[in-house]
Amino acid sequence: MSTFSHIRGLGFHVPERLYTNADLEKFVDTNDEWITSRTGIKQRHVVEDETCLDLAHGASVKALAAADMEAEELTHVIIATFTGDMPVPATACLLLERLGIKDIAAMDLSAACSGFVYAIEVARALINLDPSAKILICGSEVLTSRVNWEDRSTCVLFGDGAGAAILTAGTDGESGKVIDTLIRANGAPAMNLTIKGAGSAYPYKLGDTVGPENFVEMQGREIYRFAVRSMTGISNEILAKHGLCADDVDVLLPHQANMRIIEAVGKKLGIPREKVFVNVDKYGNTSAASIPIGLADAKESGFIKNGDLVLLTTFGGGLTWGSSLIRF
Ligand code: ACO
Repeated sequence: MSTFSHIRGLGFHVPERLYTNADLEKFVDTNDEWITSRTGIKQRHVVEDETCLDLAHGASVKALAAADMEAEELTHVIIATFTGDMPVPATACLLLERLGIKDIAAMDLSAACSGFVYAIEVARALINLDPSAKILICGSEVLTSRVNWEDRSTCVLFGDGAGAAILTAGTDGESGKVIDTLIRANGAPAMNLTIKGAGSAYPYKLGDTVGPENFVEMQGREIYRFAVRSMTGISNEILAKHGLCADDVDVLLPHQANMRIIEAVGKKLGIPREKVFVNVDKYGNTSAASIPIGLADAKESGFIKNGDLVLLTTFGGGLTWGSSLIRF
């Protein structure tokens, strides 16, 4: 029989500086009414001098404390991000140093906004290989470092932040049991959501100037349709696989990209609005950090209670998508 993986501790960290919709109005041609009605976002946290590592460290320290664990007990560190401090070394390696630990496995994982759900699945597989594994998984993004502040169709959407969780083996019946995770990708529509610059297909040489290809570029309408379809489809699939239905779900926690997408997914799944966790209004879209920030926030605020069946669902660049079922 396979070993169960459990979420032992959760924590999140966001930079202090806030950009409200009114702040954005000062430097881009937009307004609060447009942003609120199209996305539900009212504000986002934006770094001043912090990096992906700083945010990951803040979230990780909180998750370790919540799990009542020391960093020295960890066997693996995985950071889901596409805005790491630098391409090499992996930000996960830098996090080891910051946590004062070494000689364990560390890697970054690139699945865009689906990265944290992908990391849950990788951690589950590692725990199955070695039930003594104690794994820190973290979604950390400084999205605003890859935002074109002159492109109003994207810059209003994103924010910075990190969320982390500790996964270890556990027994059936304990809180935080990961019942299952499904992850998927399709490269055919990949170019609908890109950051091209710094990739080997877009090499640059000394003296080149920075162009829009260095920032998030997105076909908003296509991504919207894909988001609703993929999150609804995989949520139904994971529920059916376990003989469950929408009524069994106590909390739906979708990737916090856009309020209209979140509402459409909840409606299509038949999960009432009061069971759907939302904090996109406060943080915007924090990509790989969105799900773990949501989990930590929902646990802290009492939205997720002990015994609740929580359905995570996400989508992102790649294009990637996934769902996870957790019994708290
Ligand atoms: N402020 C004011 N007006 C704006 C803004 C803005 N910030 N952005 C666009 N507009 C204008 C457009 O210029 C356009 O004007 P026009 O009709 O005169 O040409 C009008 O608003 C409508 O623009 P659309 O792009 O058609 O607006 P739409 O209703 O599709 O909403 C949005 C755009 C919110 C981006 C939507 O497409 C969406 O939610 N897409 C999914 C985005 C998303 O969640 N992406 C996730 C990316 S990363 C990830 O999480 C994987």
